[in-house]
Amino acid sequence: MQQMLAVNTGANERSMDAIRQVIAGGSSSNMRAKGFVIPIVVRRASGARIWDMNGAELIDVNMGYGPHLFGYADPQYTEDIAAQLRDGAMTGLPHRLDLEAGELIAQLVPSMEQVRFANSGTEALMSAVRLARMSTERTLIVTFAGHYHGWSDTLLRRPVIPGALPASLDPGCEPGAPGMLPETLSHTIQIPWNDPDSLRAVFARHGERIAAVVCEPVLANAGVVPPAPGLLAMAREMSAAHGAFLIFDEVITGFRVARGGAQALYGVTPDLTVLSKVLGGGFPVSAFGGTRATMAPLARNEAFHAGVYAGNHAAMAAVVSMLRRISSSSDIYDKLDALGAYAESEVRKVFAAAGLPVWIGRAGSLMSVSLSTRRLRPEQETAEGPAATDFVLHRELQARCQRGGVYFHPNPFEPWFLSTSHTIEDINTVCGVIKDALLEIEDL
Ligand SMILES: Cc1ncc(COP(=O)(O)O)c(C=O)c1O
Repeated sequence: MQQMLAVNTGANERSMDAIRQVIAGGSSSNMRAKGFVIPIVVRRASGARIWDMNGAELIDVNMGYGPHLFGYADPQYTEDIAAQLRDGAMTGLPHRLDLEAGELIAQLVPSMEQVRFANSGTEALMSAVRLARMSTERTLIVTFAGHYHGWSDTLLRRPVIPGALPASLDPGCEPGAPGMLPETLSHTIQIPWNDPDSLRAVFARHGERIAAVVCEPVLANAGVVPPAPGLLAMAREMSAAHGAFLIFDEVITGFRVARGGAQALYGVTPDLTVLSKVLGGGFPVSAFGGTRATMAPLARNEAFHAGVYAGNHAAMAAVVSMLRRISSSSDIYDKLDALGAYAESEVRKVFAAAGLPVWIGRAGSLMSVSLSTRRLRPEQETAEGPAATDFVLHRELQARCQRGGVYFHPNPFEPWFLSTSHTIEDINTVCGVIKDALLEIEDL
């Protein structure tokens, strides 16, 4: 390990040291600051590749945490945004692109008849929750262990690894960061993911107080853990029966697991949906929305949501560019699913050949790969994969792969996000690098 780190001291290391002098922690996000075990500073990115300050070229499978469905610096996308920058990035006035952006979302995600745009997933989630609280005149929000909904006081909870705690209501529900108001916790409750009994129990005990159930319809922040069969439909039914909102946080899954997001894939319609990531293709933009009736308090300007940059013209150009392309390409999701399936089967082969246990969670091109502390049977993977994750050995693997020219995140809970820029050859290269790295870590 020492020797490996020595090999990588160079321009990346020097740049990182300099960045740390002016950016606290070296990154403007705590989540991202954990993203480099060996310093890596990007010079540029294109397609499925990044080039670092040492001049090394790496195949990236994390892809900036998911927005780049068509790869980095896609020429059409770049040109669409550049054209809008030349025509004015924001005026603070309504713009012709607002109409097209809203119409494209409504066409692709029919439950979102009306939307509001914001700049980040965190903001859009806060606004959706506030709207649910206002509309129901209740305050209690139910979330699921392991799900991440941004860093607001409203929703940030100390991370809980699904399956690591005994199933109970409110497992380990503690503030997610020092300085948060602990009182906000009394207005949220956390239940285990994929546990219908807990969902039933929370409605039986608190049904009259619940303003909203909020979930990632495919959990993608604790590895990728799809919903148990019938769970989303049950959440839908129970929320409706008790007068609560169902909010799907599709920041990751929207336009990723299917053209219409997880709600299309599983055939369950939420009251409110939050989108980001692929929505903007790498430009900071998010949206929340629902039916016209659900959004009526905002339409009447009674509910409050604002932002100088919310819905700025450059962001709308990014949304329109991404969604036009998504709506006009008939086969991208079939191709991405096929690429994801190929990657999964090849990665499984590599781990099997090395004799090391792996947990892979996947929904289409969204896929997590985690070294496991123990061998799991296929039927155990979803329920036990997150708790069996070997974080320490995964970091060893990540460091070696990064040195070998492949970047995935050092935290195995951060998924791979394959794009239309990744090729079968890229996946084969990635697998070859993992194979060599596994040979090295077998000896540790
Ligand atoms: C599912 C989910 N919701 C919300 C967020 C927060 O989004 P942002 O970081 O843009 O505030 C994230 C961020 O990764 C996310 O994965």
